[in-house]
Parts: sequence; C-alpha cells; structure tokens
Amino acid sequence: MSKKIPVGILGATGIVGQRFVQMLEHHPWFEVAWLAASDRSEGKPYGEAARWRLKTPIPASVAKMTVAAATPDGAPHVIFAALDSGIAAELEPKFAEAGCVVVSNSSALRMQSDVPLVIPEVNAEHIKLIETQAWKKKSGGFVVTNPNCSAIGLVLALAPIDRAFGLETVMVVTMQAVSGAGYPGVASLDILGNVIPYIAKEEEKMEEETLKLLGRLTGDKIDMGSFKMSAQCNRVAVEDGHTESVTVKLTKKARAEEIIAAWNTFQSEPQKLGLPTAPVHPVSYVTAADRPQPRFDVDAGSGMTSTVGRLRPCSVFDWKFTVLSHNTIRGAAGAALLNAELLKAQGYLG
Ligand SMILES: NC(=O)c1ccc[n+]([C@@H]2O[C@H](COP(=O)([O-])OP(=O)(O)OC[C@H]3O[C@@H](n4cnc5c(N)ncnc54)[C@H](OP(=O)(O)O)[C@@H]3O)[C@@H](O)[C@H]2O)c1
Repeated sequence: MSKKIPVGILGATGIVGQRFVQMLEHHPWFEVAWLAASDRSEGKPYGEAARWRLKTPIPASVAKMTVAAATPDGAPHVIFAALDSGIAAELEPKFAEAGCVVVSNSSALRMQSDVPLVIPEVNAEHIKLIETQAWKKKSGGFVVTNPNCSAIGLVLALAPIDRAFGLETVMVVTMQAVSGAGYPGVASLDILGNVIPYIAKEEEKMEEETLKLLGRLTGDKIDMGSFKMSAQCNRVAVEDGHTESVTVKLTKKARAEEIIAAWNTFQSEPQKLGLPTAPVHPVSYVTAADRPQPRFDVDAGSGMTSTVGRLRPCSVFDWKFTVLSHNTIRGAAGAALLNAELLKAQGYLG
C-alpha cells in the first residue's frame, strides 16, 4: 500500500492541470487519486478528455482514470486547483467549505484578505493567514494561492534586493509566452509574427500581487509593500517562459556585485526544509550579455529557477535587468506543488 498522500486536480485537462499530472508522476509525497474538469470532460478517460500538450508521455495510470464531476463528493482531502478564474470563484470556496485543502493557481481568491498568496522562498510566514479563514474554523478546509505567472518570476528577483537594499519604485515590461493563456489560448492568426500589447487584467494582477507578496504579516493581516509599482504586459510568440524587463529605484545605494551576490546566494525556507520541488537556486544570475532567453534558460532548476541577467545602471532610476521564468512550472503547477510541500512540512496536511 502506498504511503503517499492522495491528491486531486481540479481543471486537470488544461495546460496547468497537465503540468500537475506531469510533476506529480514521480512525486515522493503525493499521488494523483482524482481528476476533475468541466461537463465536456466528465465521465471520459483522462487520456481522451485531455489534449496532452507536454513533451513527456502522459502517465499510463492517469490516462486510464475517469474524469470526475467538479464537486467535492468523492474528492480527496488535498486538491490542486487549475480552473479558469470565473469558475474557480464559485468552486474553490465549495471545496474549502467541504473540508478540503485547496492549493490554487487561479486569481479568484488571491487578493482576499484572509487568503495567503505565497511564494515559499519569499513569504512562507503568510501561510498563517489560513487560521483566520472561516472555512478552517468550520470544516478544517482552507485555500492557499500562488501568484500570477508573471508576478512570480519578478518577485523572486525582487525579494533579495528588497531585503538587502529596499525597493522604492519598480517598473516592469513583460513579454509573455502563449502557454500562459491556456489551451487553445490565443489564436495562431493573432500571435504568429506578432506582439499583442494587452493581456486582460494582467497588469493589475502583477501590480497588486507584488505588493501583497512583499508585504508584511502583522497580526492577522498583510501590510502591503509600500514601494511604487507599474507593469506593462505583452503577449509574444514564445511557447513557454515569460521574459520581463525590469527597472528599480532602491532606498539604499548598491553596487552591481552586491546585487548579483544577493540573487545568487538567495536561499530560504524551502531550501532549508529540503522540499522536493525546491530548486537549489531560486534565483540565478547569467553573465552572458544576451541572456536570459526562453529557448536556453526556461528550464533552469527544472523550471523552478528565476533566471536574471543584463544588470546595468539606469540613468532614470538606479538599476535595470531582465528576468525569465517558466510560466507553467514556477508560474503555476510547480508553484502550487511547492506551496503544498510547505503546508505538509508545517503540519497543515494532517
Ligand atoms: N497557463 C499558465 O501559464 C498559468 C499560469 C498561472 C496561473 N494560471 C491560471 O491557472 C488556471 C488554469 O489555467 P490553464 O492555462 O490551465 O487554463 P486552460 O488550459 O484553459 O484549462 C482550464 C481548465 O478548467 C476546466 N474548466 C473550465 N470550465 C470548468 C467548469 N465549469 N467546471 C470545471 N472545470 C472547468 C477545463 O476543463 P475542460 O477541459 O473540461 O474544459 C480545464 O481543465 C487559470 O485560472 C489561469 O489563470 C495559468
């Protein structure tokens, strides 16, 4: 008998759901026991319902599983949720209400004041907000979220700088991969040979989530980060990997080698705890003048490392640099998996 914790995936057939299936295949602590999606997929074998888009084969045991209805009846205690935000706003509270631990990717509840928005290397202590949730008090269930796929790479790069030198202003321009829009996502005729300078609600999410993530837990609420933040988001014809051009103004003077050292030596709770999905280096600096690039750097740290490059002085603010992170691994399924591992390490999974 397996001693692994049975987990479910809500929205298992989508781009992020498939990443969950892939990343859970050989996971040492968790195993997939339940899959759910929309009415379109319900009742079908997973291998038929999901249009598998990943380069590794669909795990045989999962391909045979029948996709269940997206209701808590028969679902395991721990649920990874990869639902569109509209339906997530309706379903995630239902699962928490029914006593489930919901580890969510969606934006639906991220900014709710009692819901932790967590990157374990950055703000693991925010997990304690769980204790304030009405669901937790009533049924034991709760919701934990990870950030938007473009905020996460950025915040991993900002956190070490914020700790050492303080952030005063952050400006970011993103070039975001098509897989970030789910499947089938952006029509090929819209994106091939093109750049789309608009992603619905993305700039707002990046700005507010960054301030929550770099905010401080005071009592039972988060005091949001106090720096100024502005984001501009673009969709580009790249398969995986969000690239971001960042400019920062700092509260303390810093030298380039000090900033690079802050990135390269950044390690935190997941590395100390030895969580299975934690990369050795959450942030890594590349020295080549023309890197990072999605083609070469997106899989750094098995997709869990945020790669930074091109640090140089800025004549308007203090410093500018480029960040790249994998949007469906560090930006989605890997982020949620690391959150679940942190929950287990802190005794929240029973
Ligand atoms: N893609 C990324 O890089 C990324 C990164 C971070 C966060 N996210 C977030 O993660 C979530 C999923 O994104 P995705 O890219 O995987 O989207 P997707 O490819 O469009 O997949 C959506 C999933 O939701 C299911 N679903 C839709 N309507 C449903 C309903 N009424 N009841 C139950 N299930 C329903 C779909 O099932 P069917 O197949 O049966 O329709 C599918 O499994 C979104 O909230 C997204 O914003 C995505």
